[in-house]
Amino acid sequence: MDIHSHQFIAFFEPEQAAQLAAKAIVETYPDLVVIFEEGEVPDYLYLVLEGKVLFRKHTINDHYQIVAQANPDDFFGEFGILDGKPRSAQAMVCEGATLARIPRNVLIEILNNTKGSTVLHLFNFIIQRLRVTTQEFVQQVTYKDKMVLLGEMVNTIIHDFKSPLSSIHLSSGMLREMYLEDEDTTEWCDLIQEQAVRMTAMAEELLEFSKGSASLKKQPMDLAAALRRFEKLNRIYLDQENVAFTLHCPESIMVEADENKLMRVLQNLIVNAVEALDGDGGEITMTAQPLPNWVRITIQDNGPGIPLEIRDSFFEAFVTYGKKRGTGLGTAIAKSIIDTHQGQIRFETQEGEGTTFIIQLPLQTS
Ligand SMILES: Nc1ncnc2c1ncn2[C@@H]1O[C@H](COP(=O)(O)OP(=O)(O)O)[C@@H](O)[C@H]1O
Ligand SMILES: [Mg+2]
Repeated sequence: MDIHSHQFIAFFEPEQAAQLAAKAIVETYPDLVVIFEEGEVPDYLYLVLEGKVLFRKHTINDHYQIVAQANPDDFFGEFGILDGKPRSAQAMVCEGATLARIPRNVLIEILNNTKGSTVLHLFNFIIQRLRVTTQEFVQQVTYKDKMVLLGEMVNTIIHDFKSPLSSIHLSSGMLREMYLEDEDTTEWCDLIQEQAVRMTAMAEELLEFSKGSASLKKQPMDLAAALRRFEKLNRIYLDQENVAFTLHCPESIMVEADENKLMRVLQNLIVNAVEALDGDGGEITMTAQPLPNWVRITIQDNGPGIPLEIRDSFFEAFVTYGKKRGTGLGTAIAKSIIDTHQGQIRFETQEGEGTTFIIQLPLQTS
């Protein structure tokens, strides 16, 4: 977008707006460039013209938690400019961004010469935005608490479920053995066993989800080797489902990851893609590509695309669509695993064309 139509500039009278636009320094930044670090002394206000900026706060062990993001027409860094206090989070470019930065002294001078009503208008806007952010934060915190509680409940229920389930499995197996010559009985027993296995799998999926990140075991992992193992394990399944699978991964990409969990993510996404392709003979391509500090893994299918109805709530638990037996947990588990690896996951989808999942994981640092 053009700087003159940015909402921040539009707050000012034409003369000041022109001054601000003239003094602003417009620059395009590549992916993952850090605009400022947490704790830095603020010197500029930034207007987002294109792309996206993520705000991350340092947590423990060199890990970061994403706390907010800014999109075109948003601005950021105003608090530090107004009160001079250090930056409260790191700002990092995501997907490349064009920003206009306005030096602190220029802005303060123009603000000093601006009508009170304009300043008030601007303040109102900033306060409004602060309220929304605070509300979102509070919602996130209470949601997390609720999920922890739900997780504990699910945990106990599922544990209690598992032993009667295995009894059902065992007894139907014995019945089957006793009446081997009776076709009806063996058929019914097979059905019972099949369903018991399915319920156990579902219970395990729920358990996995409720456990969340508690059991993450990160280790240095050779990505190409892991992806080849993954392909091998899925070869028969993919052939049976009539899906052509291609893997592109350069050698010697090292990531710090819990291999089992990461395989779980890929498995969930591949199964979804296969289910979406529905035996029509589709294609799935998995690609890994190293970036400066990250590796990007994409999983692309040429299926029907993700239904519009669930695109906004896609990664939430229990969101399922168009499946008789969906649990709606596959992608929620995938997201929680990627999040605990300090990575990112998102998708691009087009109706009738297909879907691509894009995962970014931090590269091993040492
Ligand atoms: N690659 C894909 N193409 C089209 N739709 C998809 C794809 N992956 C997931 N979906 C949709 O997203 C929903 C949620 O997936 P998921 O969280 O794994 O739950 P489940 O598979 O149990 O329904 C699926 O029900 C399906 O409608
Ligand atoms: Mg699924």
